[in-house]
Amino acid sequence: MKSKSVFICQNCGSQSPKWLGRCPGCGEWNTFVEEIEEVAGAEYSFLPSEPVLYQNIKEFKKPRAKVKIEEFNKVLGGGVVLGSVVLIGGEPGIGKSTLLLQVARDFAVEDEKVLYVSGEESLEQIKLRGDRLGVRDGQLYLLAETSLERILAQAEKIMPHVFILDSVQAVFSSKLSSSPGTISQVREVANQVFRFAKRNQVSSFLIGHITKEGSLAGPKSLEHMVDVVLLFEGEKDHSHRVLRALKNRFGPVSELAIFEMGSAGLQAISNPSAFFLKERPANEAGSVVVSTIKGSRPLLIEIQALVSSTLFASNPRRMTVGLDHFRSSMLLTVIEKKLGYSFGGEDIYLNVAGGLTIEEPAADLGVVLAVVSCLKNRPMPPGVAAFGEVGLSGEIRSVGQALGRVKEAASLGFATVVLPQGNVAQLEKEDLPGTRLRGVKNIKQAIDLVF
Ligand SMILES: Nc1ncnc2c1ncn2[C@@H]1O[C@H](COP(=O)(O)OP(=O)(O)O)[C@@H](O)[C@H]1O
Ligand SMILES: [Mg+2]
Ligand SMILES: [Zn+2]
Repeated sequence: MKSKSVFICQNCGSQSPKWLGRCPGCGEWNTFVEEIEEVAGAEYSFLPSEPVLYQNIKEFKKPRAKVKIEEFNKVLGGGVVLGSVVLIGGEPGIGKSTLLLQVARDFAVEDEKVLYVSGEESLEQIKLRGDRLGVRDGQLYLLAETSLERILAQAEKIMPHVFILDSVQAVFSSKLSSSPGTISQVREVANQVFRFAKRNQVSSFLIGHITKEGSLAGPKSLEHMVDVVLLFEGEKDHSHRVLRALKNRFGPVSELAIFEMGSAGLQAISNPSAFFLKERPANEAGSVVVSTIKGSRPLLIEIQALVSSTLFASNPRRMTVGLDHFRSSMLLTVIEKKLGYSFGGEDIYLNVAGGLTIEEPAADLGVVLAVVSCLKNRPMPPGVAAFGEVGLSGEIRSVGQALGRVKEAASLGFATVVLPQGNVAQLEKEDLPGTRLRGVKNIKQAIDLVF
Protein backbone atom coordinates (compact mmCIF):
# COMPACT_ATOMS: atom_id res chain seq x y z
CA MET A 1 0.00 0.00 0.00
CA LYS A 2 1.47 3.32 -1.11
CA SER A 3 0.55 6.58 0.50
CA LYS A 4 0.84 10.12 -0.76
CA SER A 5 -0.14 13.49 0.51
CA VAL A 6 -3.02 15.34 -1.13
CA PHE A 7 -4.98 18.46 -0.32
CA ILE A 8 -8.73 17.98 -0.30
CA CYS A 9 -11.42 20.66 -0.28
CA GLN A 10 -13.55 19.95 2.80
CA ASN A 11 -16.52 21.53 1.12
CA CYS A 12 -16.74 19.75 -2.22
CA GLY A 13 -14.05 17.09 -2.21
CA SER A 14 -11.87 18.58 -4.98
CA GLN A 15 -8.28 17.40 -4.77
CA SER A 16 -5.03 19.19 -5.43
CA PRO A 17 -1.40 18.17 -5.07
CA LYS A 18 -0.66 21.51 -3.37
CA TRP A 19 -2.49 23.81 -0.96
CA LEU A 20 -4.81 26.32 -2.57
CA GLY A 21 -6.39 29.34 -0.92
CA ARG A 22 -9.51 29.13 -3.02
CA CYS A 23 -11.09 25.96 -4.27
CA PRO A 24 -11.42 25.85 -8.08
CA GLY A 25 -14.25 23.33 -7.66
CA CYS A 26 -16.67 25.22 -5.48
CA GLY A 27 -15.13 28.67 -5.04
CA GLU A 28 -14.89 28.47 -1.23
CA TRP A 29 -11.91 29.94 0.59
CA ASN A 30 -9.56 28.12 2.98
CA THR A 31 -11.24 24.77 2.62
CA PHE A 32 -8.17 22.72 1.64
CA VAL A 33 -6.80 20.36 4.26
CA GLU A 34 -3.80 18.10 3.83
CA GLU A 35 -4.71 14.45 4.01
CA ILE A 36 -2.69 11.34 3.50
CA GLU A 37 -4.32 9.26 0.86
CA GLU A 38 -3.53 5.59 1.03
CA VAL A 39 -3.80 4.06 -2.39
CA ALA A 40 -5.27 0.68 -1.71
CA GLY A 41 -5.41 -2.21 -4.14
CA ALA A 42 -8.68 -3.38 -5.62
CA GLU A 43 -10.65 -4.47 -2.61
CA TYR A 44 -14.11 -4.26 -4.05
CA SER A 45 -14.48 -8.00 -4.11
CA PHE A 46 -18.17 -8.33 -3.30
CA LEU A 47 -18.95 -7.93 -6.99
CA PRO A 48 -18.52 -10.90 -9.35
CA SER A 49 -15.30 -10.50 -11.27
CA GLU A 50 -16.33 -12.53 -14.31
CA PRO A 51 -18.85 -11.55 -16.97
CA VAL A 52 -22.14 -13.39 -16.61
CA LEU A 53 -24.51 -14.23 -19.45
CA TYR A 54 -27.56 -12.00 -19.23
CA GLN A 55 -30.03 -14.91 -19.25
CA ASN A 56 -28.22 -16.52 -16.35
CA ILE A 57 -28.53 -13.57 -14.03
CA LYS A 58 -31.03 -14.31 -11.30
CA GLU A 59 -33.93 -11.96 -11.00
CA PHE A 60 -33.17 -9.27 -8.46
CA LYS A 61 -35.99 -9.38 -5.99
CA LYS A 62 -35.91 -6.47 -3.68
CA PRO A 63 -37.17 -7.70 -0.36
CA ARG A 64 -38.22 -4.66 1.58
CA ALA A 65 -38.75 -4.35 5.28
CA LYS A 66 -41.48 -1.98 6.35
CA VAL A 67 -41.05 0.12 9.42
CA LYS A 68 -43.97 1.29 11.51
CA ILE A 69 -43.42 4.88 10.47
CA GLU A 70 -45.37 4.67 7.23
CA GLU A 71 -44.09 8.04 6.03
CA PHE A 72 -40.54 6.77 6.34
CA ASN A 73 -41.36 3.77 4.12
CA LYS A 74 -42.88 6.10 1.56
CA VAL A 75 -39.81 8.29 1.31
CA LEU A 76 -37.68 5.18 0.83
CA GLY A 77 -39.93 4.09 -2.02
CA GLY A 78 -41.89 1.45 -0.09
CA GLY A 79 -39.70 0.30 2.79
CA VAL A 80 -36.07 -0.49 3.51
CA VAL A 81 -34.44 -2.62 0.80
CA LEU A 82 -32.54 -5.49 2.38
CA GLY A 83 -28.81 -4.77 2.39
CA SER A 84 -29.17 -1.20 1.18
CA VAL A 85 -27.08 1.67 2.51
CA VAL A 86 -29.03 4.80 3.35
CA LEU A 87 -27.39 8.11 4.19
CA ILE A 88 -29.43 10.57 6.22
CA GLY A 89 -28.10 14.12 6.19
CA GLY A 90 -29.25 17.10 8.18
CA GLU A 91 -28.15 19.93 10.40
CA PRO A 92 -27.12 19.21 13.98
CA GLY A 93 -30.14 19.16 16.27
CA ILE A 94 -32.66 18.56 13.51
CA GLY A 95 -33.60 15.10 14.81
CA LYS A 96 -31.52 12.53 12.91
CA SER A 97 -30.61 10.49 15.99
CA THR A 98 -34.21 10.65 17.16
CA LEU A 99 -35.59 9.43 13.85
CA LEU A 100 -33.16 6.52 13.58
CA LEU A 101 -33.63 5.47 17.19
CA GLN A 102 -37.36 5.32 16.45
CA VAL A 103 -36.61 3.22 13.37
CA ALA A 104 -34.33 1.00 15.49
CA ARG A 105 -37.07 0.65 18.10
CA ASP A 106 -39.59 -0.46 15.46
CA PHE A 107 -37.26 -3.03 13.93
CA ALA A 108 -36.28 -4.36 17.35
CA VAL A 109 -39.84 -5.05 18.50
CA GLU A 110 -40.37 -6.99 15.26
CA ASP A 111 -37.57 -9.26 16.49
CA GLU A 112 -35.04 -7.91 14.01
CA LYS A 113 -31.61 -7.56 15.50
CA VAL A 114 -30.45 -3.93 15.43
CA LEU A 115 -27.01 -2.50 16.18
CA TYR A 116 -27.07 1.23 16.86
CA VAL A 117 -23.56 2.65 17.05
CA SER A 118 -22.95 6.13 18.33
CA GLY A 119 -19.64 7.92 18.12
CA GLU A 120 -21.22 11.05 19.58
CA GLU A 121 -23.15 10.11 22.67
CA SER A 122 -22.76 7.83 25.65
CA LEU A 123 -24.98 4.80 26.13
CA GLU A 124 -26.71 6.60 29.00
CA GLN A 125 -27.51 9.60 26.80
CA ILE A 126 -28.96 7.37 24.11
CA LYS A 127 -30.98 5.48 26.69
CA LEU A 128 -32.37 8.74 28.00
CA ARG A 129 -33.64 9.54 24.52
CA GLY A 130 -34.80 5.96 24.05
CA ASP A 131 -36.88 6.06 27.22
CA ARG A 132 -38.57 9.18 25.90
CA LEU A 133 -39.27 7.41 22.61
CA GLY A 134 -40.71 4.36 24.28
CA VAL A 135 -37.90 1.92 23.46
CA ARG A 136 -38.43 -1.22 25.53
CA ASP A 137 -38.36 -4.73 24.26
CA GLY A 138 -36.58 -6.38 21.41
CA GLN A 139 -33.09 -6.96 20.14
CA LEU A 140 -31.68 -3.46 20.15
CA TYR A 141 -27.95 -3.35 20.84
CA LEU A 142 -26.15 -0.09 21.53
CA LEU A 143 -22.45 0.52 21.08
CA ALA A 144 -20.59 3.74 21.90
CA GLU A 145 -17.39 3.63 19.87
CA THR A 146 -15.42 5.78 17.46
CA SER A 147 -13.02 3.29 15.90
CA LEU A 148 -14.50 2.04 12.65
CA GLU A 149 -12.50 -1.18 12.69
CA ARG A 150 -13.68 -2.01 16.22
CA ILE A 151 -17.24 -1.13 15.25
CA LEU A 152 -17.21 -3.42 12.22
CA ALA A 153 -15.59 -6.22 14.21
CA GLN A 154 -18.49 -6.02 16.68
CA ALA A 155 -20.95 -5.84 13.84
CA GLU A 156 -19.47 -9.00 12.27
CA LYS A 157 -19.77 -10.69 15.64
CA ILE A 158 -23.39 -9.98 16.45
CA MET A 159 -24.42 -9.73 12.77
CA PRO A 160 -27.47 -7.50 13.02
CA HIS A 161 -30.22 -7.20 10.42
CA VAL A 162 -30.07 -3.45 10.72
CA PHE A 163 -26.93 -1.39 11.32
CA ILE A 164 -27.03 2.28 12.25
CA LEU A 165 -23.97 4.53 12.44
CA ASP A 166 -24.35 7.89 14.20
CA SER A 167 -22.43 9.63 12.62
CA VAL A 168 -20.01 9.24 9.72
CA GLN A 169 -18.16 12.31 10.97
CA ALA A 170 -17.64 10.98 14.47
CA VAL A 171 -15.86 7.74 13.67
CA PHE A 172 -12.49 7.12 12.06
CA SER A 173 -10.61 4.38 10.34
CA SER A 174 -7.11 3.62 11.56
CA LYS A 175 -6.17 2.93 7.94
CA LEU A 176 -5.93 6.67 7.44
CA SER A 177 -3.97 9.19 9.43
CA SER A 178 -6.25 12.14 8.75
CA SER A 179 -8.58 13.20 11.53
CA PRO A 180 -12.24 12.16 11.90
CA GLY A 181 -14.66 14.21 9.84
CA THR A 182 -12.25 14.94 6.99
CA ILE A 183 -13.37 14.02 3.51
CA SER A 184 -11.06 11.03 3.16
CA GLN A 185 -12.11 9.65 6.58
CA VAL A 186 -15.78 10.11 5.87
CA ARG A 187 -15.38 8.36 2.53
CA GLU A 188 -13.42 5.51 4.05
CA VAL A 189 -16.08 5.04 6.72
CA ALA A 190 -18.88 4.98 4.15
CA ASN A 191 -16.90 2.66 1.94
CA GLN A 192 -16.20 0.09 4.64
CA VAL A 193 -19.80 0.17 5.88
CA PHE A 194 -21.01 -0.22 2.30
CA ARG A 195 -18.88 -3.33 1.82
CA PHE A 196 -19.97 -4.75 5.17
CA ALA A 197 -23.62 -4.14 4.25
CA LYS A 198 -23.39 -5.74 0.80
CA ARG A 199 -21.30 -8.68 1.93
CA ASN A 200 -23.73 -9.58 4.70
CA GLN A 201 -27.03 -8.19 3.41
CA VAL A 202 -27.32 -5.87 6.39
CA SER A 203 -29.56 -2.83 5.89
CA SER A 204 -27.45 0.10 7.00
CA PHE A 205 -28.09 3.69 7.88
CA LEU A 206 -25.41 6.36 8.02
CA ILE A 207 -26.05 9.67 9.72
CA GLY A 208 -24.19 12.68 8.31
CA HIS A 209 -24.14 16.22 9.64
CA ILE A 210 -24.63 19.05 7.23
CA THR A 211 -23.96 22.62 8.22
CA LYS A 212 -25.95 25.51 6.79
CA GLU A 213 -22.98 27.26 5.30
CA GLY A 214 -21.83 24.54 2.90
CA SER A 215 -21.73 20.92 3.91
CA LEU A 216 -18.47 20.71 5.79
CA ALA A 217 -16.66 17.48 4.98
CA GLY A 218 -19.87 17.00 3.19
CA PRO A 219 -22.08 14.00 3.12
CA LYS A 220 -22.30 15.40 -0.43
CA SER A 221 -19.07 13.62 -1.21
CA LEU A 222 -20.72 10.34 -0.19
CA GLU A 223 -23.77 10.60 -2.40
CA HIS A 224 -22.36 8.44 -5.18
CA MET A 225 -21.22 5.74 -2.73
CA VAL A 226 -24.56 4.91 -1.11
CA ASP A 227 -27.87 3.58 -2.41
CA VAL A 228 -30.18 6.16 -0.92
CA VAL A 229 -29.63 9.72 0.27
CA LEU A 230 -32.26 11.28 2.48
CA LEU A 231 -32.28 14.86 3.62
CA PHE A 232 -33.84 15.89 6.90
CA GLU A 233 -34.68 19.58 7.00
CA GLY A 234 -36.53 22.09 9.10
CA GLU A 235 -36.34 25.51 10.65
CA LYS A 236 -35.05 25.98 14.16
CA ASP A 237 -38.12 27.91 15.29
CA HIS A 238 -40.65 25.56 13.75
CA SER A 239 -41.54 22.14 15.06
CA HIS A 240 -42.04 20.49 11.69
CA ARG A 241 -39.38 18.54 9.84
CA VAL A 242 -39.34 17.53 6.22
CA LEU A 243 -37.74 14.26 5.14
CA ARG A 244 -37.13 13.75 1.43
CA ALA A 245 -35.01 11.63 -0.87
CA LEU A 246 -32.24 13.21 -2.93
CA LYS A 247 -31.22 9.93 -4.50
CA ASN A 248 -32.76 6.47 -4.50
CA ARG A 249 -31.45 3.49 -6.43
CA PHE A 250 -34.61 1.55 -5.60
CA GLY A 251 -37.41 4.04 -6.03
CA PRO A 252 -38.57 7.51 -6.93
CA VAL A 253 -37.17 10.59 -5.25
CA SER A 254 -40.39 12.55 -5.36
CA GLU A 255 -41.90 11.49 -2.05
CA LEU A 256 -41.56 13.54 1.07
CA ALA A 257 -42.71 13.16 4.62
CA ILE A 258 -43.54 15.81 7.15
CA PHE A 259 -43.01 15.19 10.83
CA GLU A 260 -43.54 17.15 13.98
CA MET A 261 -40.92 17.03 16.73
CA GLY A 262 -42.44 16.48 20.14
CA SER A 263 -41.35 15.09 23.48
CA ALA A 264 -42.16 11.53 22.39
CA GLY A 265 -40.12 11.96 19.22
CA LEU A 266 -41.07 12.54 15.62
CA GLN A 267 -44.69 12.09 14.71
CA ALA A 268 -45.86 12.04 11.10
CA ILE A 269 -48.24 14.88 10.33
CA SER A 270 -51.19 13.19 8.71
CA ASN A 271 -52.79 16.31 7.26
CA PRO A 272 -49.95 18.65 6.30
CA SER A 273 -52.22 21.18 4.56
CA ALA A 274 -54.28 21.71 7.69
CA PHE A 275 -51.06 21.93 9.69
CA PHE A 276 -49.57 24.67 7.53
CA LEU A 277 -52.77 26.68 7.35
CA LYS A 278 -53.81 26.45 10.97
CA GLU A 279 -52.37 29.82 11.99
CA ARG A 280 -53.46 31.68 8.91
CA PRO A 281 -55.02 35.02 9.82
CA ALA A 282 -58.63 35.30 8.65
CA ASN A 283 -59.55 38.28 6.51
CA GLU A 284 -56.10 39.79 6.19
CA ALA A 285 -54.93 41.48 3.01
CA GLY A 286 -51.76 40.05 1.50
CA SER A 287 -52.42 36.40 2.36
CA VAL A 288 -53.25 33.82 -0.30
CA VAL A 289 -53.73 30.05 -0.07
CA VAL A 290 -51.91 28.23 -2.84
CA SER A 291 -52.25 24.61 -3.87
CA THR A 292 -48.71 23.39 -4.48
CA ILE A 293 -47.14 20.01 -5.01
CA LYS A 294 -44.47 18.89 -2.56
CA GLY A 295 -42.96 15.63 -3.67
CA SER A 296 -45.87 13.86 -5.30
CA ARG A 297 -48.33 15.18 -2.77
CA PRO A 298 -50.53 18.26 -3.05
CA LEU A 299 -50.06 20.68 -0.20
CA LEU A 300 -51.88 23.89 0.63
CA ILE A 301 -49.64 26.66 1.83
CA GLU A 302 -50.05 30.33 2.59
CA ILE A 303 -48.11 32.96 0.66
CA GLN A 304 -47.86 36.35 2.32
CA ALA A 305 -46.94 39.70 0.81
CA LEU A 306 -46.20 43.00 2.49
CA VAL A 307 -45.71 46.17 0.51
CA SER A 308 -44.80 49.39 2.30
CA SER A 309 -43.21 52.72 1.38
CA THR A 310 -39.49 52.51 1.58
CA LEU A 311 -37.10 54.52 3.68
CA PHE A 312 -34.37 53.87 1.14
CA ALA A 313 -35.68 55.59 -1.96
CA SER A 314 -32.67 54.75 -4.08
CA ASN A 315 -32.67 51.11 -3.10
CA PRO A 316 -36.01 49.67 -2.00
CA ARG A 317 -35.94 46.24 -0.40
CA ARG A 318 -36.98 43.00 -2.04
CA MET A 319 -37.04 40.22 0.52
CA THR A 320 -38.24 36.70 -0.09
CA VAL A 321 -38.42 33.84 2.37
CA GLY A 322 -39.24 30.39 1.03
CA LEU A 323 -39.59 31.53 -2.59
CA ASP A 324 -37.06 31.82 -5.39
CA HIS A 325 -35.69 35.35 -5.27
CA PHE A 326 -35.20 35.80 -9.02
CA ARG A 327 -38.57 34.36 -9.90
CA SER A 328 -40.21 36.70 -7.38
CA SER A 329 -38.41 39.74 -8.86
CA MET A 330 -39.63 38.69 -12.28
CA LEU A 331 -43.21 38.45 -11.02
CA LEU A 332 -43.00 41.92 -9.46
CA THR A 333 -41.85 43.32 -12.79
CA VAL A 334 -44.71 41.57 -14.59
CA ILE A 335 -47.16 43.08 -12.07
CA GLU A 336 -45.73 46.56 -12.72
CA LYS A 337 -45.85 46.24 -16.50
CA LYS A 338 -49.17 44.48 -16.89
CA LEU A 339 -51.21 45.89 -14.04
CA GLY A 340 -49.85 49.42 -14.06
CA TYR A 341 -48.34 49.57 -10.57
CA SER A 342 -45.03 51.16 -9.74
CA PHE A 343 -42.85 49.69 -7.02
CA GLY A 344 -39.98 52.19 -7.23
CA GLY A 345 -40.79 53.59 -3.81
CA GLU A 346 -41.90 50.38 -2.10
CA ASP A 347 -40.24 47.76 0.04
CA ILE A 348 -41.71 44.36 -0.78
CA TYR A 349 -41.57 41.29 1.43
CA LEU A 350 -42.73 37.86 0.31
CA ASN A 351 -42.99 34.91 2.64
CA VAL A 352 -44.14 31.31 2.65
CA ALA A 353 -45.73 30.81 6.06
CA GLY A 354 -44.51 27.96 8.24
CA GLY A 355 -40.91 27.99 7.01
CA LEU A 356 -41.54 25.91 3.89
CA THR A 357 -39.77 26.40 0.59
CA ILE A 358 -41.78 26.43 -2.62
CA GLU A 359 -39.80 26.08 -5.81
CA GLU A 360 -42.45 25.34 -8.40
CA PRO A 361 -43.80 28.02 -10.77
CA ALA A 362 -47.36 26.96 -9.94
CA ALA A 363 -47.07 29.28 -6.93
CA ASP A 364 -46.67 32.33 -9.23
CA LEU A 365 -50.34 33.21 -9.32
CA GLY A 366 -50.41 33.09 -5.53
CA VAL A 367 -47.53 35.57 -5.32
CA VAL A 368 -49.27 37.94 -7.76
CA LEU A 369 -52.58 37.73 -5.88
CA ALA A 370 -50.86 38.26 -2.51
CA VAL A 371 -49.03 41.37 -3.72
CA VAL A 372 -52.15 42.88 -5.32
CA SER A 373 -54.28 41.97 -2.29
CA CYS A 374 -51.85 43.90 -0.12
CA LEU A 375 -51.66 46.86 -2.52
CA LYS A 376 -55.44 47.13 -2.67
CA ASN A 377 -55.73 46.37 1.04
CA ARG A 378 -58.41 43.84 0.10
CA PRO A 379 -58.31 40.36 1.64
CA MET A 380 -58.88 37.36 -0.59
CA PRO A 381 -62.54 36.35 -0.54
CA PRO A 382 -63.01 33.46 1.94
CA GLY A 383 -62.84 29.91 0.60
CA VAL A 384 -60.68 30.75 -2.42
CA ALA A 385 -57.41 29.01 -3.28
CA ALA A 386 -55.26 29.53 -6.38
CA PHE A 387 -52.47 28.09 -8.48
CA GLY A 388 -50.90 28.74 -11.90
CA GLU A 389 -47.66 29.66 -13.58
CA VAL A 390 -47.27 33.26 -14.73
CA GLY A 391 -45.33 34.06 -17.91
CA LEU A 392 -43.56 37.28 -18.87
CA SER A 393 -46.58 38.64 -20.76
CA GLY A 394 -48.75 38.13 -17.71
CA GLU A 395 -50.31 35.01 -19.24
CA ILE A 396 -51.29 32.19 -16.91
CA ARG A 397 -49.96 28.82 -17.99
CA SER A 398 -51.20 25.34 -17.15
CA VAL A 399 -49.36 23.32 -14.54
CA GLY A 400 -49.14 19.61 -13.74
CA GLN A 401 -51.33 17.63 -11.35
CA ALA A 402 -54.25 20.07 -11.47
CA LEU A 403 -56.73 17.48 -10.25
CA GLY A 404 -54.74 16.72 -7.11
CA ARG A 405 -54.40 20.39 -6.34
CA VAL A 406 -58.11 21.06 -6.74
CA LYS A 407 -59.07 18.05 -4.62
CA GLU A 408 -56.69 19.05 -1.85
CA ALA A 409 -58.15 22.55 -1.81
CA ALA A 410 -61.70 21.18 -1.75
CA SER A 411 -60.88 18.80 1.10
CA LEU A 412 -59.86 21.75 3.27
CA GLY A 413 -62.95 23.77 2.49
CA PHE A 414 -61.69 25.92 -0.39
CA ALA A 415 -64.74 25.63 -2.61
CA THR A 416 -63.48 28.07 -5.26
CA VAL A 417 -60.21 27.50 -7.06
CA VAL A 418 -58.68 30.07 -9.39
CA LEU A 419 -56.53 28.20 -11.90
CA PRO A 420 -55.13 28.34 -15.44
CA GLN A 421 -57.81 28.19 -18.13
CA GLY A 422 -55.75 25.48 -19.79
CA ASN A 423 -56.15 23.24 -16.75
CA VAL A 424 -59.92 23.75 -16.57
CA ALA A 425 -60.37 21.91 -19.88
CA GLN A 426 -58.54 18.86 -18.45
CA LEU A 427 -60.79 18.80 -15.43
CA GLU A 428 -64.11 19.03 -17.27
CA LYS A 429 -64.79 15.31 -17.12
CA GLU A 430 -63.93 15.06 -13.43
CA ASP A 431 -66.58 14.79 -10.81
CA LEU A 432 -65.89 17.62 -8.38
CA PRO A 433 -69.10 18.23 -6.47
CA GLY A 434 -69.30 21.52 -4.65
CA THR A 435 -66.11 22.91 -6.19
CA ARG A 436 -66.16 25.94 -8.45
CA LEU A 437 -63.32 26.14 -10.96
CA ARG A 438 -62.57 29.64 -12.18
CA GLY A 439 -60.21 29.46 -15.14
CA VAL A 440 -58.12 32.53 -15.96
CA LYS A 441 -55.91 33.34 -18.95
CA ASN A 442 -53.85 36.23 -17.62
CA ILE A 443 -53.18 38.05 -14.38
CA LYS A 444 -55.43 40.98 -15.27
CA GLN A 445 -58.36 38.61 -15.60
CA ALA A 446 -57.42 36.89 -12.32
CA ILE A 447 -57.30 40.19 -10.43
CA ASP A 448 -60.65 41.34 -11.87
CA LEU A 449 -62.21 38.04 -10.92
CA VAL A 450 -60.90 37.87 -7.37
CA PHE A 451 -61.12 41.51 -6.27
N1 LIG B 1 -37.34 16.31 26.03
C1 LIG B 1 -37.52 16.71 24.80
N2 LIG B 1 -38.75 17.02 24.37
C2 LIG B 1 -38.95 17.43 23.09
N3 LIG B 1 -37.99 17.56 22.19
C3 LIG B 1 -36.74 17.27 22.56
C4 LIG B 1 -36.44 16.83 23.87
N4 LIG B 1 -35.11 16.61 23.94
C5 LIG B 1 -34.62 16.90 22.69
N5 LIG B 1 -35.61 17.30 21.88
C6 LIG B 1 -35.50 17.70 20.47
O1 LIG B 1 -34.63 16.84 19.80
C7 LIG B 1 -33.69 17.60 19.06
C8 LIG B 1 -32.39 16.84 18.97
O2 LIG B 1 -32.61 15.79 18.13
P1 LIG B 1 -31.44 14.81 17.72
O3 LIG B 1 -32.11 13.59 17.21
O4 LIG B 1 -30.46 14.68 18.80
O5 LIG B 1 -30.79 15.64 16.51
P2 LIG B 1 -29.52 15.29 15.61
O6 LIG B 1 -29.18 13.87 15.86
O7 LIG B 1 -29.99 15.58 14.21
O8 LIG B 1 -28.44 16.24 16.02
C9 LIG B 1 -33.55 18.88 19.82
O9 LIG B 1 -33.20 19.94 18.97
C10 LIG B 1 -34.93 19.07 20.35
O10 LIG B 1 -35.70 19.80 19.41
MG1 LIG C 1 -27.47 13.12 16.79
ZN1 LIG D 1 -14.43 22.94 -3.09
